Amino acid sequence: MRMNGQNYRTIWPDSDGRRVHIIDQTRLPHHFETRILEDYPAAATAIKNMVVRGAPLIGVTGAYGLALALSHDPSDVSLQRAYHALLETRPTAVNLKWGLARLCSAVAALSLKERAAAAFMEAGRIAEEDVAACDAIGDHGAQLIKEQAKNLKRPINILTHCNAGWLAAVDWGTALAPIYKAVRLGIDLHIWVDETRPRNQGASLTACELLGENVPHTVIVDNAGGHLMQHGLVDLVIVGSDRTTRTGDVCNKIGTYLKALAAYDNDVPFYAALPSSTIDWQMRDGVSEIPIEERDPREVTHISGRQSDGACVEIELTPRGSNARNFGFDVTPARLVTGLITERGVSAAHEAALIKLFPQHT
Ligand code: MRU
Repeated sequence: MRMNGQNYRTIWPDSDGRRVHIIDQTRLPHHFETRILEDYPAAATAIKNMVVRGAPLIGVTGAYGLALALSHDPSDVSLQRAYHALLETRPTAVNLKWGLARLCSAVAALSLKERAAAAFMEAGRIAEEDVAACDAIGDHGAQLIKEQAKNLKRPINILTHCNAGWLAAVDWGTALAPIYKAVRLGIDLHIWVDETRPRNQGASLTACELLGENVPHTVIVDNAGGHLMQHGLVDLVIVGSDRTTRTGDVCNKIGTYLKALAAYDNDVPFYAALPSSTIDWQMRDGVSEIPIEERDPREVTHISGRQSDGACVEIELTPRGSNARNFGFDVTPARLVTGLITERGVSAAHEAALIKLFPQHT
């Protein structure tokens, strides 16, 4: 997708196939910088520190991380060490485990000599499949937007939370892909962008993406959604997901559940958009089973931004001595979810409907 007038993906291998390039998302929106990953500890650090983030992208980065490990040392010991180091970086998004497991099974039966090249090939395939899945999510979701917009004599207002755009995937994104495709269909729309404290993925990343693609949008504080819905200013909510159970419970960035409650109370359709790599087919009850990441309280007590002189700085928000806790995600029960937009079509948020689209998981 476009940023500063140029097309990018979020991750790409070197032409020699032994290094991996990423966009440093901690520097956005004020600076666009890329980084090079040369080994698996660098990939693990990039995931942990959210230099790359978003469920689909961390799945792909994890796979490339294993490929980097195998290019330095193709042994089983090296593979296992890198697998565990990468897996423990972030616990909630299931795409990470999925990407790592897929890479491991692609190389397990190969000779040591064959492993690194095969691993890079497989990581590349995972990345391409993610692009194709997000592209298809975009097409299915755009039809849904078209349907919702058809009787409106004004732009359709869509609210989104966090960043589930192309920066969270390899290209297109999940929740934002339908929006990008709808714009290409000529649908008149406007996006409400939740700022998404504490890391502000909405205010910094979603806004930056939408600006790059010339999509009309307005950034709002996280608590504004309910008020907007009560006043008829939201026609549709589309969010992403970090893990969705086979029963349709949607885990997503903290604050999503409150948006779903407000949407339910105001009869606003609430959709989650996700590739099937985000579905945890082993889990049934999202609230009790999905591990919720708790991050450094400093992300709550401090905030970063650009000063008028252009320098990016971090400042303290809370009084010293106050405790803070930083829960990364919450779970929206399936009963509050109107539907799931997947690469195979839009499904009701329950097991039978999901299995109909993905019968291999019966
Ligand atoms: O903590 P992050 O930024 O990695 O959070 C993940 C997300 O971007 C969101 O929860 C998103 O809505 C789902 S990932 C497409």
